[in-house]
Amino acid sequence: MTTKAVMVASDVSRVYLQADMSLSVLSDVNLTIQQGEKIAIVGVSGSGKTTLLNLLGGLDDPTAGDVRICDVSWCTLGASKRAAWRNQHVGFVYQFHHLLGEFSALENVTLPLLIGGCSPVDALRKATELLVRVGLGDRLQHHPAELSGGERQRVAVARALITSPSVVLMDEPTGNLDPNTASAILDLLIELNQSLNISFVLVTHDQAIAKKMDRTLTLENGTLVSVDQNFD
Ligand SMILES: Nc1ncnc2c1ncn2[C@@H]1O[C@H](COP(=O)(O)OP(=O)(O)OP(=O)(O)O)[C@@H](O)[C@H]1O
Ligand SMILES: [Mg+2]
Repeated sequence: MTTKAVMVASDVSRVYLQADMSLSVLSDVNLTIQQGEKIAIVGVSGSGKTTLLNLLGGLDDPTAGDVRICDVSWCTLGASKRAAWRNQHVGFVYQFHHLLGEFSALENVTLPLLIGGCSPVDALRKATELLVRVGLGDRLQHHPAELSGGERQRVAVARALITSPSVVLMDEPTGNLDPNTASAILDLLIELNQSLNISFVLVTHDQAIAKKMDRTLTLENGTLVSVDQNFD
């Protein structure tokens, strides 16, 4: 089987400048993610995990270096092309779901498809199918405030995957949930990864979750270090 790199970060550095202070968070980070690959990123609080996810998803620009997704470098795209490319290729799942409170579960999941130019009829059909698949077929019209934490997170997972992006970036997607719900969501993610061949980059503090990914990288002193714990 041929493999294809969906995301490549080359010598990525990020320095935050504040007043006369400069804070170097990432330095010369290199990372290649193959299609369908599941990567865990671990590291202590403040090590730069969210900073790295933001750079990978083109929400922020590196101070030096380059991030390419599906052979296109974020830095070559202007704001509207960047948003369109992100809509097509990247899904995000955050620790706290970030759903739109004024919209139903179904509308939240439909929105990325509509933004991508899908017809409303197709978008509603696809969103309904995916919500059924994540076990929320009987919660389509519920607004986020009318859902449990685990249900909201499943809506967030559906929203991230609905466009069949090349890669889904997840920042402690189950960090806010009880162990049983977290484990159910993780199983769901792995099932969707296998059936849709979407790559995952998952930030977690939980070693048990990290071990379910194909490989684990630790952010340490601004660089990514490989750990082979997934093979023990
Ligand atoms: N916009 C910013 N301006 C200045 N410093 C920032 C900014 N964003 C983050 N930082 C600093 O960069 C460092 C890395 O932050 P980041 O949010 O990437 O850490 P993290 O590894 O995700 O931590 P956590 O596990 O607590 O979420 C922190 O020390 C933080 O204070
Ligand atoms: Mg963080």
